[in-house]
Amino acid sequence: MSLYIGIDFGTSTLYVTKWDEEKQIALPVPNLIPSEYGSGNYVDNVVYYEESCNLIMGKKAVKHCQLDPWNGVSEIKRHLDDDRWSREIRGHKKTAKDIITDIFTFIKMRVETIYGGQEITGAVISVPYAFEPKERKKIETAAKSAGVPVLALIEEPVAAALSSGLFDELRPGSKETVLIFDLGGGTFDVTLFDAILGNDGKKSVIVKNTDGERLLGGANIDQLIADKFLSMMTAGSGPLHDARFRNELFEEARQTKIGLSDMQEYEIFKKFEIVDNPLEEVITRSQLEEWLEGSFLYKIDNVLDRVLDDISVQISEIEQIILVGGTSNIPIIAKRVTDFFGKRPKMIDDPGELVGKGAAIYCGIITGRSEKIDVIRRSSHGFGVRVTNKTIKPILIRNELYGQYSPFYDFSLPKDKQKGKVVIYQGNSPFIEHCSEVGYLVVNQQDYPNGIIRMQLKMSDSGLVCYRTFNEKSKFVSEGEVARV
Ligand SMILES: Nc1ncnc2c1ncn2[C@@H]1O[C@H](COP(=O)(O)OP(=O)(O)OP(=O)(O)O)[C@@H](O)[C@H]1O
Ligand SMILES: [Mg+2]
Repeated sequence: MSLYIGIDFGTSTLYVTKWDEEKQIALPVPNLIPSEYGSGNYVDNVVYYEESCNLIMGKKAVKHCQLDPWNGVSEIKRHLDDDRWSREIRGHKKTAKDIITDIFTFIKMRVETIYGGQEITGAVISVPYAFEPKERKKIETAAKSAGVPVLALIEEPVAAALSSGLFDELRPGSKETVLIFDLGGGTFDVTLFDAILGNDGKKSVIVKNTDGERLLGGANIDQLIADKFLSMMTAGSGPLHDARFRNELFEEARQTKIGLSDMQEYEIFKKFEIVDNPLEEVITRSQLEEWLEGSFLYKIDNVLDRVLDDISVQISEIEQIILVGGTSNIPIIAKRVTDFFGKRPKMIDDPGELVGKGAAIYCGIITGRSEKIDVIRRSSHGFGVRVTNKTIKPILIRNELYGQYSPFYDFSLPKDKQKGKVVIYQGNSPFIEHCSEVGYLVVNQQDYPNGIIRMQLKMSDSGLVCYRTFNEKSKFVSEGEVARV
């Protein structure tokens, strides 16, 4: 028996699913966290280390972190871009990759226990579309180090597209343009697709364009509300240095935010140990909306504008809008999307399941265990090499199809150099100051008799940057993944 799973590794929530080949559906892995830890299919992506290598997750971890924040970590997904980030936990230094490896070890152990000791055969992990190759690579490496056999990474909106019933109402020989709006705990992705059902029944999901913000989500709103609370308490920012106070304040902010999605008013009465006066306030929904208007909603408008303007798509061409992600539950967010497009988004019963289920469906597709759907994706970033101290020569342009090699870039090493490192940069600008290093490849002069090196780049199926090189006579020399800097 095989066990294929999909993992939605969210900033705030973990959701794991299994591809059921017989029923041809993705099912949640039930009770990933044992009931004494607060059962359920969704798990708070919060870890608490009882010992340096023994962790708990979910609601119980959230509770422990409030009392002992020094030995717990939340929102780890937001630290993947910072190579210098680490935490000292129970006498051990842990990097973001170490902590994610621990989480994947935990997931693997739980999933295999739930399925009677059967080992995971293959897994697909979802990542934000806006994630950079180095963040994708860290997730993949962490999962593999934990023994999870990663088959592929899939972008969260693409996974959501696969599980949102895009083809249910399509007639053979027709096409629909769909926009997936995914505003989660930590990241914001907007992706425009064509869903095509051929006359022969062939299904294709084709990315037309994607845009987003790597660090925009519910966590920013929690921060915004927490800042307002601090100013209401007139306690200054001093108490923020206390990790327990900070955690409690953010939890209060999160509860207020969630409460105001259902209610018009939310009453808070909270005593903090290190502050004299309690926080005693009634916050209204319109107050929250005013705060969001000033500092959050315009960022959403900007991304929506870009995703359409970039490829000159008219609003009227978009036939369906699907809201994904917990933060889309905030009424003003759904209203903003409705106002922008002049039509209501499609309501999905449990939008929180879409990404995780889509990851398992993709696992079924790539292993040939599900009906075939062509999934065609495009790069969310451009890539190039440095040509002067200030400028980049773009090689692979943004929005290029995954798997498609760029045109050749010809160059040579300085005559006195036997070996050279070619550093690849990421960015949609020709100016180096707006770009970041992705990784490098090493070339040996002796492999290129006349000194001319012909290089191409492409995006792999997991959104990682790959290269291949040829000599002057276009004879293949080498290929591989661009290594991390
Ligand atoms: N009813 C609600 N109203 C407002 N916010 C909510 C509600 N329910 C959940 N949230 C917020 O949604 C976020 C979690 O959403 P989700 O589970 O989609 O994110 P994630 O998948 O963990 O993160 P990401 O995809 O960004 O990495 C949290 O910030 C949570 O506080
Ligand atoms: Mg998510």
